[in-house]
Amino acid sequence: MCGIVGYVGFREAYPIIIKGLKRLEYRGYDSSGIALLDNGSIKLSKTKGKVVDLENRAKDEISLNGTLGIGHTRWATHGEPNDVNSHPHISNSGDLVIIHNGIIENYAPLKKELINRGYTFVSDTDTEVLINLIEDVKKNDGLKLGKAVRVALTQVVGAYAIAVFDKNKPNEIVAARMGSPLAIGVGEDDKEFFIASDASPFIEYTNNAIYLEDEEIAVIRKGKKIKIRKISDDSIVDPYIQELQLNLEQIEKDGYDHFMLKEIFEQPNAITDTYRGRMLVNEGIIRMAGIDDNLERFLNADRIIIVACGTSWHAGLVAEYVFEELSRIPVEVEYASEFRYRNPIITEKDVVIAISQSGETADTRAAIQLAKSKGAFVFGVCNVVGSTIARESDAGAYTHAGPEIGVASTKAFTTQITVLTLIALKLAKAKGAISNSDYHMHLRELELIPEKVKECLTLDNHIKEIAVVYKDMPNFLYLGRGFNFPVALEGALKLKEISYIHAEGYPAAEMKHGPIALIDEQMPVVIIATKKGHYDKVVSNIQEIKSRKGKIIAIVNNGDVSVREIADYVIEVPETLELLSPLLTTIPLQLLSYHIAVMRECNVDQPRNLAKSVTVE
Ligand code: AGP
Ligand code: GLU
Repeated sequence: MCGIVGYVGFREAYPIIIKGLKRLEYRGYDSSGIALLDNGSIKLSKTKGKVVDLENRAKDEISLNGTLGIGHTRWATHGEPNDVNSHPHISNSGDLVIIHNGIIENYAPLKKELINRGYTFVSDTDTEVLINLIEDVKKNDGLKLGKAVRVALTQVVGAYAIAVFDKNKPNEIVAARMGSPLAIGVGEDDKEFFIASDASPFIEYTNNAIYLEDEEIAVIRKGKKIKIRKISDDSIVDPYIQELQLNLEQIEKDGYDHFMLKEIFEQPNAITDTYRGRMLVNEGIIRMAGIDDNLERFLNADRIIIVACGTSWHAGLVAEYVFEELSRIPVEVEYASEFRYRNPIITEKDVVIAISQSGETADTRAAIQLAKSKGAFVFGVCNVVGSTIARESDAGAYTHAGPEIGVASTKAFTTQITVLTLIALKLAKAKGAISNSDYHMHLRELELIPEKVKECLTLDNHIKEIAVVYKDMPNFLYLGRGFNFPVALEGALKLKEISYIHAEGYPAAEMKHGPIALIDEQMPVVIIATKKGHYDKVVSNIQEIKSRKGKIIAIVNNGDVSVREIADYVIEVPETLELLSPLLTTIPLQLLSYHIAVMRECNVDQPRNLAKSVTVE
């Protein structure tokens, strides 16, 4: 829910940290701060606002020297966003400094005990409690920093990714994680190390990375091999250094005005990358180790329970229709946040599919833990390699969408549907629930989708013209049927989360059960009317809206004439199997919300109140 960056090595730390924080701002950004160790003294600057505000303040406030430093972009959980509550936080002695992503759930009793011991606090944060707990342990037990941090963390309940340094130890940073992501970049010959919430701050310096697991602590010393241990029992952990394929240009905006637009236009490649190596059309093979190794689990499952949040939940809803259509396995889709608390009935005969772009969503993680505690088999569909959900699942399949920086999820949605469709097809084939010819036809059609997505993207200017007309409307309705009902929900979410216009998605037939009362000239209705998607019924729905003076923006197939005559605007997408149509119909809805948001001068990549990865409840 925030970004942490740290550096220790031979370079000046400041530029590395500031640039790294900018790359992580999408993770949460109500305030930010930096601490540098410059010849034994801590130089600290922090401020409410964005990293650029920190940059302007730091250059006037502190000397920017030092080859060790830590920085933080905050998404507040304890204590309002202000300068004092911003990170880094310093211990009472002034020796220890910390940055933290997560929540210390038992911070109140810990704080009370520390106050009894004479500690004072300047902020309202849980994080300041943690740094003073570490100090207390270090002082009382006479421990070195690494051991003191470990012992202190054994008293902590909650989620954290932290970086801590002691001003008296100029070459060392201690990092630890439980529940929040933490990556360590390993420089050549251990001459420098980077710490960050993901690899983007250090990928231009090294693509060798260690992803700390939950309950692990790392003592990082310039020029020495990194030491990793388990927090619970101090047992040694062998560091696993991954060579990342992530490169910088994947992160930069690549010439687009916003990450979101770049990621919308990346979808043809993202979908291709997601089925590449998995779908062998000519051989009629779908190769997915996570499924192949657990095929019986899926085939004998009583049902599949999909748990997710937000856009990932919408992808799960599409998957419900696809799985039941193709593989005839009963599917239930659950909001992870509801599932985790409603005491659901779960047995070891259930397969739970957890969908998460970030792989760090707290509610989805908790749903997984609940499912596993009841013996269910958990299959993760994530986009971030090495993410927590990916590693906590029993098996899984990655979407290969590449980094999704824009807070509004786009390519994650279409690549999630791609992975889930491959799984459904594979299971349908294994069950004999689909004929050979239909199976091959689906593979061939899926292979054509990236080109058809490209064709949808050529509609960008036409969609921009429609956006001009409707950008100031106070409300929108989004309607769809069958496979496109979840697309209507997703289109509404896209609009509201980046343009701040109220929008609701409904099954088109649901209009007559209440929402039709909303229809008037001030109510634009976006409706999906694909040829094979209960077309005649949807046309009737359009008529109902038209007769009440509603404004209609219809997503139709190329060459449609009937809807064109009654709608105010039509957006034509190529035909495909109805089951695959969400991969196409969602594209114009992404572009429509993007252009409306830009015209309303909203912060498209970092919408207000939102964070890219919701790693707290
Ligand atoms: C969607 O545009 C939002 N960013 C949000 O709903 C997101 O899909 C949700 O928070 C789930 O995130 P995840 O896929 O990383 O778990
Ligand atoms: N709980 C800490 C705070 O409120 C960290 C929040 C975050 O992850 O940014 O300062």
